[in-house]
Amino acid sequence: MASSLRTAAVASRIFAASSSSSSTARLSLLRSSPSLSFSYSLKSLAFSSHFSALQRRSSDDVWSSGRFCTAASPRCAASDRDQLKSAREDIKELLKSKFFHPILVRLGWHDAVTYNKNIEAWPQRGGANGSLRFEVELKHAANAALVNALNLIQPIKDKYPGVTYADLFQLASATAIEEAGGTKIPMKYGRVDVSDPNECPEEGRLPAAGPPSPADHLREVFYRMGLNDKEIVALSGAHTLGRSRPERSGWGKPETKYTKDGPGAPGGQSWTVQWLKFDNSYFKDIKAKRDEDLLVLPTDAVLFEDPSFKAYSEKYAEDEETFFTDYAEAHATLSNLGAKFDPRELLGEIIDAPTQVAS
Ligand code: HEM
Repeated sequence: MASSLRTAAVASRIFAASSSSSSTARLSLLRSSPSLSFSYSLKSLAFSSHFSALQRRSSDDVWSSGRFCTAASPRCAASDRDQLKSAREDIKELLKSKFFHPILVRLGWHDAVTYNKNIEAWPQRGGANGSLRFEVELKHAANAALVNALNLIQPIKDKYPGVTYADLFQLASATAIEEAGGTKIPMKYGRVDVSDPNECPEEGRLPAAGPPSPADHLREVFYRMGLNDKEIVALSGAHTLGRSRPERSGWGKPETKYTKDGPGAPGGQSWTVQWLKFDNSYFKDIKAKRDEDLLVLPTDAVLFEDPSFKAYSEKYAEDEETFFTDYAEAHATLSNLGAKFDPRELLGEIIDAPTQVAS
């Protein structure tokens, strides 16, 4: 009951928040640093060879089938409520047998993180608008291997045409967090999709993992989205899930004692020991400098170095409940960035709201 109320309270705070159009922060787009070519993401399709036929689809199939809308497609209206609920059940089912929680979280994050609060016009402002389904954006170096996540959820999109890509990406991410043992996120739905690859943002809006000044860089990127220091730290806690693979991002070890046997495709370097469990171990492990087999990117390390970030990191390392509360709120905010809700912004459906409050 307490957690239901907490979720409802968080939901109402987020629902009440208006999307700020005021802009005091400096517009500072990141320089593109394509350290890897897209060939890595195509190569990475090979790693999934022992997964289902779904993941075995070749990249050529993906692009030539037009499934990911490489050409202009009709405008997608906002999502159907019942189909959203069924799609969520299908995602849960999928996650029972596959271990794709981390990459689904990354998919939702990378669709939303392109948001620029200094641009008012939709879709030029970027954000959660489904543009990441287009080849041109998937080819951005920072999106290496996210085509695997698209391959995974495209059949769900096909089954539920009344759910937009923009909603499906965010639904998959929030469901993955919850299914990994994380917090319930007060999501709302009704995002409209962009319909043309020309509406994708330019490359270079995503954060880099090893910039010269990690704290300044994180603030440049997250402030551009209208987020604050607390949200930077809370959202970084998503790295409690997943692994980094050198052949994708250039970061991490090829394998460690925690990843050499999977689950899922072996290899990569995780931030935490149990990298399919959402908890506060990311903060605990960075603080303890626990093990060389665990990854700490420069942008992770700075969360315990910069005084403002450190206050939140210390708190989250100590107190998982506070981390969960702040994470849920920040994740919901992130998932709405730049989104155009149909019929009107802030009228998006919270598909859980009635049951949350009643239970
Ligand atoms: C703060 C700036 C951030 C940087 C510089 C960053 C960078 C990275 C890098 C380099 C990887 C490894 C990718 C690969 O090799 O496959 C990664 C993975 C990941 N990131 Fe981030 N990230 C940031 C923030 C976030 C946020 C805010 C979220 C979610 C809310 C997130 C979720 C993830 C997840 C779940 C993975 C694991 C993916 C997998 O295992 O397939 N990241 N990130």
